Amino acid sequence: MPLMPLLRRLPAAALQLRFLQLPQAAPAVAASARHQRQSLSTSATTGPSAQPTSPAGLQATVDVDSRVLTLHGAAADDQAGVATLNFPLAWLRDNCRCSLCHNSNSDSRQLLMNDFDPTAALTEATVEAGQLQLLWADGHRGCYPLDWLRARHFTEDGQVPPDLRLSKSIPRLWRDWPFRPDFLDGQAVMSDDAALLELLQRLELDGLVLLDNFGTDEDSLSRLCHRVAYPRRTHYGVIFRVESKPGPSNLAYTTGRLGFHTDLPYFEHQPDIQLLHCIRQTRTVPGGENSFADGFSAAELLRDRRPEQFHLLATALTNFRDRNSDDLDKFHLLQRHPVLELGRGGQVRRIHLSNQQRDSVLRLPLGRVQAYYEALKEFNDLLYDPGHSLQLRLKDGQLAVFENGRVLHSRTAYQGERLFMGAYLSWDETLSRRRVLQGL
Ligand code: OGA
Ligand code: ZN
Ligand code: ZN
Repeated sequence: MPLMPLLRRLPAAALQLRFLQLPQAAPAVAASARHQRQSLSTSATTGPSAQPTSPAGLQATVDVDSRVLTLHGAAADDQAGVATLNFPLAWLRDNCRCSLCHNSNSDSRQLLMNDFDPTAALTEATVEAGQLQLLWADGHRGCYPLDWLRARHFTEDGQVPPDLRLSKSIPRLWRDWPFRPDFLDGQAVMSDDAALLELLQRLELDGLVLLDNFGTDEDSLSRLCHRVAYPRRTHYGVIFRVESKPGPSNLAYTTGRLGFHTDLPYFEHQPDIQLLHCIRQTRTVPGGENSFADGFSAAELLRDRRPEQFHLLATALTNFRDRNSDDLDKFHLLQRHPVLELGRGGQVRRIHLSNQQRDSVLRLPLGRVQAYYEALKEFNDLLYDPGHSLQLRLKDGQLAVFENGRVLHSRTAYQGERLFMGAYLSWDETLSRRRVLQGL
């Protein structure tokens, strides 16, 4: 924000800011000599050559001790705060936008680390035609659009603004507000980008999105996945049929009850997003209802009420396993994870839990086993808390899309005919689609 009003006031004509008359010392000097060179150069930056040549009051200075270039905007009527933007010299050299250093077609850094000198010295800085132009001591000329720079300046705490494009939105925990998902229109999602964007944004925030009017075509789920990105293929296939099968390779392929679980926790990276599409489900016989629970909400409840149990589930490793045959022919998948995987800030980032796929191998010290089972049981109970769980019976042509590592799903036993189609998506490509739809 600080530089924006300032830049708007720049005269259209090329604007010469200032020259940095830095000594032409070899950029890669020995560490012992470097300090002295920087001290000498500091005085040069505050000498007469540091005076702005612009009537708009803009100037660039370099602190050669900290190796930071600062763009100053000293306009008196600037109410937006101090208009100084800081850029480390090493970062500037690394991120040179000239056509030698940066390939604009692939939007990639072409400069090799082999050719990069993190101690490169700067000789000259000018602003012309909305660009900061730098002349480095080795003769290389770099250029940087000012609006591009403005979005990337540094504070003590790092680059600002924070890169909000990077991550998923922070989840809205269901227990913090009365989450009552309304159904989005499935046809709109397939034909209208704004509707698809709404689906993806809600999925990031709430972890569960329901669609109706999606039809009962067995191929529609594949089309939806391809509208987002593409389905993640697993040993159960690309799009899998969830129905009662003889010799079931998975308990989902029976008519039995399934407790709250995440799918495929025996992967190093279990599927991020799951889709379940109800093709048909006999209305006249009971059962086949699904429940969804916000596992992040339940985990926070556990953290509040039983911190020692939370800690145990966040640290003890649980083995999960799947051994059978299906789309991949014979398979034996095996992995261990904490039930509650924490992120760097201590927030719950991913849940791995499937009672049916939890291995009988339990590599815990004898004295921790009892507490481990009690913690598992407590967390399972908390999932059913009505503050963050809901039950519904999907009708033909309805679809649930949910974050597998957050929103756990379950099913009651059923009778009669029932066919769901299932698929998985990955966050990377799904977030990519969201950014593209947002024009980021
Ligand atoms: C699954 C599953 C639930 C259902 O396929 O992973 O849990 O409603 N299915 O059949
Ligand atoms: Zn360059
Ligand atoms: Zn499942």
